[in-house]
Amino acid sequence: MRPCTLATAALFAAALATALPAGAVDSLRNLAQSAGIRFGTAVNVEALNTDAAYARLLAREFNLVTPENALKFSVVQPERGRFDFTQADALVAFAEAHRMQVNGHVLVWDQQLPDWLTQGHFSPDELKAILHEHIRTLVTRYRGRVASWDVAAEAVGEDGKPRETFWSRGIGPDYLALAFRWAHEADPRARLRYNDYGGEGAGAKSDGIYTLVADLRVHRVPIDAVGLQMHVGLNDAPRPEDVRLNMKRLAALGLETDVTEMDVMLQLPADRADLKAQAGLYRAMLQACLAVPLCRSFSTWGATDHYSWIPEFFPGRGAALLFDMDGHPKPAYYSVRRLLRRAAESSPAIE
Ligand code: XIL
Repeated sequence: MRPCTLATAALFAAALATALPAGAVDSLRNLAQSAGIRFGTAVNVEALNTDAAYARLLAREFNLVTPENALKFSVVQPERGRFDFTQADALVAFAEAHRMQVNGHVLVWDQQLPDWLTQGHFSPDELKAILHEHIRTLVTRYRGRVASWDVAAEAVGEDGKPRETFWSRGIGPDYLALAFRWAHEADPRARLRYNDYGGEGAGAKSDGIYTLVADLRVHRVPIDAVGLQMHVGLNDAPRPEDVRLNMKRLAALGLETDVTEMDVMLQLPADRADLKAQAGLYRAMLQACLAVPLCRSFSTWGATDHYSWIPEFFPGRGAALLFDMDGHPKPAYYSVRRLLRRAAESSPAIE
């Protein structure tokens, strides 16, 4: 080997550290970082383990990942007291290898619960003990590795009132405050979030979410952020201006916001006009986030249309994401990238 001075070794190391795969310099993740936000996606961990092109796409474009299902109650605690972290561990390892942040999803939700739980006829005290153990086990395991958690989701109804859920029925209305406190105890540095859909813009549900999180703040419950899911179609999306105002009023409570699960479902087969309108919606929602300093990240609910949940849950609809069935960028990808580039150019570089 040729002798190499300390100085050239340091230069070489610096070059390596900044070396990126071809074409990645202009990736969403790099531009977003320069613009001061993170760009994320939900991840299908089975696909991550079997589809190398999908894994490469994730590593290239995103610096924030949310397990699509791997940390949901029925997956992670399929039997009482038996935890299965196989999928979640794989995702966290992948994220660390690619310098991505991980968002834990989701601790208290009334869907994807295992039968042993929903059919167990537990007393309020037993349910509290079960939920406490669940939260403590998950959050402790990933302390310092999962940066933020969706502690609670979908606790507000369309009318803006607290929704009756498995947890509210079983434990009582304080289940939310307890969940945030237990998560905070398990990892005091984790960022704790409330996440919901249909309350992104203006209206009863948005007001109900605002009232709920304001009340949590008044009672000094450790909540840091509100996630706006943003599952929309071309005709039912909120006005971007209302989204911005909603983010601002949440910021006035001291709360950060994130767009957490955006997808824009289209009628299949999608035509060019719809793909263009879809691009406009993605752009407008991203612009709302970029306009509010406490909006910290923007995530889509999946990377490619191939692994999107939409066709299964909304038959006849799909094509909802930034990459098509073959992993190729769609018009929405390019308009998001253009906007990020503009924001990156006009914003001071951040670490
Ligand atoms: C969805 C997943 O994408 C599907 O694979 C699963 O079968 C059902 O749940 N809001 C949420 C997500 O917060 O957890 C949901 O994910 C989509 C709606």
